[in-house]
Amino acid sequence: MSGQPGPHANPIRDSTNRIKLGVFATNGSGAAFTFHPDRFVPTWDANVRLAQLAETLGFEAFVSAAHWKSFGGDGHYSGDLMETFTWAGAVAAVTRRIGIVSTVHVTVNHPVFVAKAEATVDLVSNGRAGMNLVLGWYPPDMELFGYKVKEHSDRFELAEEWIEIFDRLWAGRKSFDYSGKNYQLKAAFSQPHGVQTRPVLLNAGRSPRGRAFAAKHCDIAFLSAHNPAPSALRQQVDDIRAEARENYGRDIQIWMSAYVVLRDTQAEAEAYAHDYIVTQGDDAAVQNIIHHNAIDTKSMPPEAAARLAYNLKAGFAGYPLVGDADRIAGLFASLSAAGVDGFLLTWLDYEGGLARFGRDILPRLEAAGLRAPAPPE
Ligand SMILES: Cc1cc2nc3c(=O)[nH]c(=O)nc-3n(C[C@H](O)[C@H](O)[C@H](O)COP(=O)(O)O)c2cc1C
Repeated sequence: MSGQPGPHANPIRDSTNRIKLGVFATNGSGAAFTFHPDRFVPTWDANVRLAQLAETLGFEAFVSAAHWKSFGGDGHYSGDLMETFTWAGAVAAVTRRIGIVSTVHVTVNHPVFVAKAEATVDLVSNGRAGMNLVLGWYPPDMELFGYKVKEHSDRFELAEEWIEIFDRLWAGRKSFDYSGKNYQLKAAFSQPHGVQTRPVLLNAGRSPRGRAFAAKHCDIAFLSAHNPAPSALRQQVDDIRAEARENYGRDIQIWMSAYVVLRDTQAEAEAYAHDYIVTQGDDAAVQNIIHHNAIDTKSMPPEAAARLAYNLKAGFAGYPLVGDADRIAGLFASLSAAGVDGFLLTWLDYEGGLARFGRDILPRLEAAGLRAPAPPE
């Protein structure tokens, strides 16, 4: 088992590793909300080092996040987030194997622009481009463009038109007129064309409508992963996979996002997590996120509200991979057994964290038959 795709396959979609891995959100300050000094500073040099290290380790994906305004007011660190197509083109130029994913707000990025931008990344990367399609939930992101956050069903109605237009532009060899509720296009056409038949598409919809969108159009859907018991996730995984297969005749991958805190002992990992999440956590930023999500924490039991804030500060509500190497490798094995195909990973200290992950976790996943060793450069 080589774990790597053939010459024209996409490194993410076509990997044969049972557990596929991506690094998430290094175009910005990562996924944690904290004032801890180890918090990632998203310089371009650090992005180059991380993309190249992830590639050397055999990771399948290097995935950006997209927001237009910070979560903590003007100048807050969470606003330092590089634009995702510009970033992807540059990452493509300094890597050779890894899949590169631009997160795209379909509600503000016109499909005509996106078809050209994504084709450019696909050409620069020789067929390694992908997109994480997000619909926009954070009001300041939309108001900056002069829009309101659309009602949930209206967002998905727009997304259906958007993906139809994108697909026709990507694959089409003839211009077309389009008249929809959200878009009117005349003689729509996009050149140059990309290398792939279609870029790999991710969508993290969690609502029934969001899940249906991912099942119908995307290659990778995401689990709602707040419940820490891997066995409890099996049903969710099966449901999403079955929805794609039965309703749309498609086989999709199911991934989850997870934050990693790896130390020599469980106690050390938990102490470090407590320090960055609780002692030095950025409570104002997460309360702002909760407020803008219209989540009424007052109507929640206090423990549930506190848990939500904790999960957001820890790693934007990703799954906790906290502990020593054996425990983390064991969690990967249980989540894989529950049917999870891949993980978008975040760290507080990405550079030290990814290097250590390569030393301590990857050999364990290989020994367990969950990943093949990275191919030689
Ligand atoms: C792994 C992951 C990454 C996400 N990245 C972004 C992002 O970069 N920008 C953004 O606006 N939303 C992002 N989201 C939010 C989702 O796009 C979406 O709003 C959310 O999952 C709710 O889905 P729903 O509309 O079906 O309820 C992300 C969600 C997940 C789980």
